[in-house]
Amino acid sequence: MQAMIRVLFVASEAYPLIKTGGLGDVMYSLPHALHHIGADVRLVLPAYREVLMRLESLRILGWMEIMGAGRLLGVRILEARHAEYAFPVWLVDCPILFDRPGNPYVQADGHDWPDNAERYTVFARAAAELAQDRLNLDWRPDVVHANDWQTALVPALLEHVPQSPKRVFTIHNMAYGGHFSLTEFNLLGLPRLWWSPEGVEFYGGFSMLKAGIVYADDVTTVSPTYAREICTVEFGCGLHGVLQVSRHKLHGILNGIDENSWNPATDPYLAARYSASRRQPGKALNKQALLRRFGMVAGEALLQIPLFGMVSRLVEQKGVDLVLAALPHWLEHTEARFVFVGSGKTEYERQLRAYAIHYPQRVGVFIGYDESLAHMVEAGADMFLMPSRFEPCGLNQMYSLRYGTPPIVYRTGGLADTVVDATEHHFSAGIANGFVFDDLSSEALIEAANRALAWYAQPRLWQTLLRTGMRQSFGWEHSAQAYLALYRGQYPAVPG
Ligand code: ADP
Ligand code: GLC
Repeated sequence: MQAMIRVLFVASEAYPLIKTGGLGDVMYSLPHALHHIGADVRLVLPAYREVLMRLESLRILGWMEIMGAGRLLGVRILEARHAEYAFPVWLVDCPILFDRPGNPYVQADGHDWPDNAERYTVFARAAAELAQDRLNLDWRPDVVHANDWQTALVPALLEHVPQSPKRVFTIHNMAYGGHFSLTEFNLLGLPRLWWSPEGVEFYGGFSMLKAGIVYADDVTTVSPTYAREICTVEFGCGLHGVLQVSRHKLHGILNGIDENSWNPATDPYLAARYSASRRQPGKALNKQALLRRFGMVAGEALLQIPLFGMVSRLVEQKGVDLVLAALPHWLEHTEARFVFVGSGKTEYERQLRAYAIHYPQRVGVFIGYDESLAHMVEAGADMFLMPSRFEPCGLNQMYSLRYGTPPIVYRTGGLADTVVDATEHHFSAGIANGFVFDDLSSEALIEAANRALAWYAQPRLWQTLLRTGMRQSFGWEHSAQAYLALYRGQYPAVPG
């Protein structure tokens, strides 16, 4: 029998302690999936105020002094137990940097916290110390698995460490690079050796994301298609060259979803539970509850009218502008109704709110973050809008498939890997589960939505489509095994 592998996950968010998007979901579900197949796991997070408020029992593991931006900072390492966590969570507690309300990355006005470079450098330095068991906890990982730019210095900091754990770095989104200035680089006292085009230098400043790519032993991203896409100019966010020369250590492993939290048969947030074999009346009751939640009339006749749902960070990535451009057409030429849940760019928020005010019986909008409402939309809508311009993996389309709410998506990244267009051919092969379009335009989105509406009008076809998606398995079993193989050096790189 192989010895139990020890994995230290390093992340800037994890459900249900702190979450801004899919990264938070994955940082909860992937470590658990690995735990379930026998890995010995720890997760280290910054001790944000919100996280501390959610944790009941905390124990101090030790103290460290960590270099920040021209100052030495006292840091405590805490160990927490949480009812939903099967393993201990470690926290890097440095109140000056993390004891703040709200979003981990941005201030209330939507701008980045001005000291993000220092915050995540200190976090990464503390995590790298833990990876070397500097607190003598008698727990030394075989693998340290860092995620996204906020943790990307960890592999670099372990570069010349004797008997370093294997360094795995996962890119959840290339669009957030953690770019900072040379002044910050110097102030943080980062090694001069890193400052080169082959190191972290990036257009005159430095990129934390690049540090992760350059120094990790293995780089992964969250779908096979995105792994290929990021090696191109179009998707590489300026790092396609580095990724191309890193192809030998680049892997695409599709995210799974947590099939317990996202299960329409047991979901506590729903008005009624349902499953692939017993979809009604549950699905319809959820639609009714959702419409009512938005103050829309939901009598028997109105219930038949198709309802589009969208839950999303309201940012350019998600194609919100395409939806906004298509809305006037849909409002004029169809009867369809819409519910939107999200927050992000002020201009998108403003435009969506304006639609809700002008069309209160057709457009429902909630601006903000609401976990229960996200579940209600997945269950209550008839179809799910997700026309992302790029999508490293995307979880929402998998949630919507599982909830019998066919997604309408642009063919990119993880969307291309999970949604199978309802063509006649795919339908006869029994694999059609949603609607996919190939042209990044509101016209193409409208055309795909029209196809969805035409299918919706044919109940037998529609029900077959729903059933196909609901019966698919999107759990972590397969991908957790893939990560285990990767940790053991037995997983293939993306084809060159
Ligand atoms: P991304 O990570 O790029 O935002 P994903 O599809 O991978 O996209 O994951 C998004 C996650 O965030 C899902 O769990 C989704 O339900 C959740 N989410 C996004 N916006 C909101 C919101 N306003 N309220 C509640 N949940 C949200
Ligand atoms: C990022 C990506 C999203 C992915 C998530 C989890 O937020 O935008 O596509 O599903 O990370 O990996």
